[in-house]
Amino acid sequence: MKRLALISCALLAACGFGADDSQQAATATESGPPPPPPYQMRAELPPGDRLKAGKSGEDLFSNRCGSCHLAGGMGTNLLTVQRIKAGEPPETGLLTNRTDLTADYIKTVVRQGKMAMPRISRVEATEAELDAIATYLAKANQ
Ligand code: HEC
Repeated sequence: MKRLALISCALLAACGFGADDSQQAATATESGPPPPPPYQMRAELPPGDRLKAGKSGEDLFSNRCGSCHLAGGMGTNLLTVQRIKAGEPPETGLLTNRTDLTADYIKTVVRQGKMAMPRISRVEATEAELDAIATYLAKANQ
């Protein structure tokens, strides 16, 4: 019984430290977190089996391609320069604003790479994930 009482005391003490931590967290929030970078990706992946098709292409695109292809990413920046040189509107530097990309073309670029874009393996994006991403990006064509 004495031992149990000792353990309870230890637990209560631990809770006491917990309270201190939350006070510190509150102070940090008051000064405000730094603004997120424009290319910040979604933190969460869609749940479920990675090999299963039918997951959100939008989430997967943001997660697997977003560091380069969301606003401010190096893929977006390079493609914007290319698009302007080709006489196309600058906003088509974002893949999500393109209407000329087919799913097959997107999949080929992803697996083979293109110029400054490294190829992306089946470990980084499974076939099912790439299908969902390509369908999402090519939606304007279908
Ligand atoms: C490491 C950065 C990076 C990642 C990650 C990346 N890309 Fe790219 N991507 C680029 C760059 C840079 C280019 C421009 C290549 C060039 O110089 O022509 C590009 C070009 C492309 C193009 C060709 C566009 C055109 O006009 O021909 C497609 C399609 C594409 N990316 C799709 C994707 C998809 C889908 C993903 C995610 C599965 C992805 N990329 C991930 C950097 C990246």
